[in-house]
Amino acid sequence: MGSNLARNLASRDGNTVAVFNRSPERTRLLTTEHPEANFVASETIADFVASLSKPRTAIIMVQAGAGTDAVIKSLSEHFEPGDIIVDGGNADFTDTIRREKEQSAKGLNFVGAGISGGEEGALKGPSIMPGGSVEAYKTLGPILESIAAVVDGVPCVTHVGTDGAGHFVKMIHNGIEYADMQLISEAYDLLRKVGGHSPAAIADVFTEWNSGDLESYLIEITAEVLRQVDTKTGKPFVDIVLDEAGSKGTGVWTVQNALDLGVPVGGIAEAVFARAVSSHPEQRVAFRAVVDARPEIAVVGHTFEDDVRQALYSSKVVAYAQGFDAIIAGAEKYGWKIDKGAIATIWRGGCIIRAQFLNRIVDAYANDPSIPTLLVDPYFAKAVADGEAAWRRIVSTAALSGIPVPGFGSALSYFDSLASERLPAALVQGQRDFFGAHTYKRADQPGTFHTLWSGDRTEIETEASTH
Ligand code: 6PG
Repeated sequence: MGSNLARNLASRDGNTVAVFNRSPERTRLLTTEHPEANFVASETIADFVASLSKPRTAIIMVQAGAGTDAVIKSLSEHFEPGDIIVDGGNADFTDTIRREKEQSAKGLNFVGAGISGGEEGALKGPSIMPGGSVEAYKTLGPILESIAAVVDGVPCVTHVGTDGAGHFVKMIHNGIEYADMQLISEAYDLLRKVGGHSPAAIADVFTEWNSGDLESYLIEITAEVLRQVDTKTGKPFVDIVLDEAGSKGTGVWTVQNALDLGVPVGGIAEAVFARAVSSHPEQRVAFRAVVDARPEIAVVGHTFEDDVRQALYSSKVVAYAQGFDAIIAGAEKYGWKIDKGAIATIWRGGCIIRAQFLNRIVDAYANDPSIPTLLVDPYFAKAVADGEAAWRRIVSTAALSGIPVPGFGSALSYFDSLASERLPAALVQGQRDFFGAHTYKRADQPGTFHTLWSGDRTEIETEASTH
């Protein structure tokens, strides 16, 4: 993305762009592959800084986190008051607030700028969300305006606000991106599994939708991904991609911040969790082994009250299973030896969530402390399976009656996610690879792959993406 942004800058109005990468080999590759661009390549930071006109402006495109801090440090050692450092990566906005404070204390301008559009956008015109000071934007604004996408004559860049505002808004952009991709993937899954359409036929449906209210880049590229055929097997591309969706963190940050701000972003949170569910094959495989084929949903011979009771019980089992998953993950991350059975034991009395069925959790962990999810314990597997038909009737009745049931609904979707042999996470992986070269794994062979979407659409074996 960094090299494409540099090419974009170099292509405007006789610009000359100084480029530097900690690996000189990469810089050489860029300049030799693009002799048309006016690049001045440097092998050291000192030479790079010396080649810039004043006030100096440097745009950093490196991995968020410690890598960004290291580059800021070496640049700031050479920069002078009034110079501008722009971080164009997907930084955590709280890091950007800190960095802005540190650099402004030295008289330097630090601008955290969210840049969206993936590799192609960086080259042809991205949407840019800069923060930082008004003063820095006076110098930076015209440069960013010259490389941004333009719609109706308006460049897709604005001074979002001070210090971390740009990266904050980019984080939310990515949260919405997660929700959008998840919704499109759910639509695909419905058209495939309920509608019985092939990926190629669904591609045509999306292409048609793309000329109406749903017109968008993500719908457009989804159709491209669905139309793609795997050259090795002749199967639809989406069927050979491993259905475990990856993520780089911005969706998680969006949800964490929304929780802090008290803003309900359930759609974004469900999209983040859907990727997380997809990435736990051990739970999915174990659960599929204990749940049978979907039951017939009888519409007579049951009472509404009893259906509600069963939906409540099944959803409650899911909530406890998820809570214990979180305890297991926390224990692993922080190095605690937490005895799950002992926790269930002490929760049986005194506490607010005390309940009869905690004994069942004690038993489940006594039987097998390493079960991948409580839902595969024979008692709980049977409990949710027995309640399944009622659960489905209640969630659909609620939807038809306009009664919000986010708890019942999301618990049932979680159940269905674990029970599905294939998840549309494969399509999310295809979308991520299309716009951001984020790579994917195949379901039929080891390795990490990338399709040359803007080239001849062949597949190459590659390293996992870190950007
Ligand atoms: C963009 C993208 C870009 C990147 C995301 C993908 O706006 O151009 O959002 O920033 O592709 O980081 O995020 P995940 O890897 O978490 O899906």
